[in-house]
Amino acid sequence: MPWLTRVSGFVCAGLLIAVLSPSFQTFPPAEAIRSSHFDGNLRYPGQIDAAAGEAPSRFSFRTAPLFRNADGCRRPSFAAGELAADPTACDPSLVHIAITLDEEYLRGSVAAVHSVLQHAQCPESIFFHFLATETASLETLVRSSFPDLRFKVYFFDPERVRGLISTSVRQALEQPLNYARNYLAEVLEPCVERVVYLDSDLVVVDDVAKLWGTSLGSSAVGAPEYCHANFTKYFTDRFWSEPRLAAAFTGRRPCYFNTGVMVFDLARWRRGGFTREIERWMEVQRREGRIYELGSLPPFLLVFAGRIAAIDHRWNQHGLGGDNVRGSCRDLHPGPVSLLHWSGSGKPWTRLDSHRPCPLDALWAPYDLHGRSP
Ligand SMILES: *[C@@H]1O[C@H](CO)[C@@H](O)[C@H](O)[C@H]1NC(C)=O
Repeated sequence: MPWLTRVSGFVCAGLLIAVLSPSFQTFPPAEAIRSSHFDGNLRYPGQIDAAAGEAPSRFSFRTAPLFRNADGCRRPSFAAGELAADPTACDPSLVHIAITLDEEYLRGSVAAVHSVLQHAQCPESIFFHFLATETASLETLVRSSFPDLRFKVYFFDPERVRGLISTSVRQALEQPLNYARNYLAEVLEPCVERVVYLDSDLVVVDDVAKLWGTSLGSSAVGAPEYCHANFTKYFTDRFWSEPRLAAAFTGRRPCYFNTGVMVFDLARWRRGGFTREIERWMEVQRREGRIYELGSLPPFLLVFAGRIAAIDHRWNQHGLGGDNVRGSCRDLHPGPVSLLHWSGSGKPWTRLDSHRPCPLDALWAPYDLHGRSP
């Protein structure tokens, strides 16, 4: 069973990475944030003694260990304590990461942040930009799980995309926050000129600063490209048979890329007016009938396929969630791995909870902060 051997070999490698990592702690500090349901009132330990027997809610997270910069990191020009009072994102020494805080995927987002910090040489130099449709309580939650984190929570107004979203094969793909990646150039502070966008169903197992520092050439977007994938299937027959529409790809060699991990040059994006260009395709889909099926991906392909900077495939080992219809177990693609992405309908936390995990889900579990302190 070569597949199984490969996987168990990789699981061992994953455990080794975890054990060797200086910041890894098996038992996080005993501080926890607990809430029996998400009503905007987060309850702290001591406030919820009466509920001690209940199972942890979806919004209960433990506090991660503190992650410190290694020697040789550029010092951010302000101290962590100062930051809490004045969360400026404009320091040029920072690495910027954008991620959404969706109620449904919160556990995944928290694990993703945890994984980034754990593998970064300079975790204190990372600034997280969180986009959410409800900000105050999520800010409290993030602060409680990551007491020293440099971050800002931005309100993403669902009305911004409500009129642009059309129904797709998977309901999860229609959530407004799924479209937040289209608006980073507008939502994030103007001083932020580059950002790594990460989905919520992934873990980073390498230093994210390497991904951040990738050259984008003259492109506004960088992502791993898959030129062997059948590009035709991302658009309907109607799209390809209508020359006026299919002409969108004239003069380029379009290749599929996954929009779950992207590096954005926001300055170039703003100059190029790409948000508007994406919105225009979403309007075509609404107005003229289906030109594609899957949620937020096709408009990105329409604007950027064949125009992105190709990033090493190690930065998006995607598809681990299985296919979109039946969450079946998937293997890794060949090659090195810096990021594991459970795209597809199966999520590791759901499968772990149901005691029917896929072998690779064991690689997500060490980053999970959900539940109460031991
Ligand atoms: C690519 O997908 C389209 C639509 O699903 C299909 O008609 C076509 O045969 C496929 N091409 C290849 C080379 O597999």
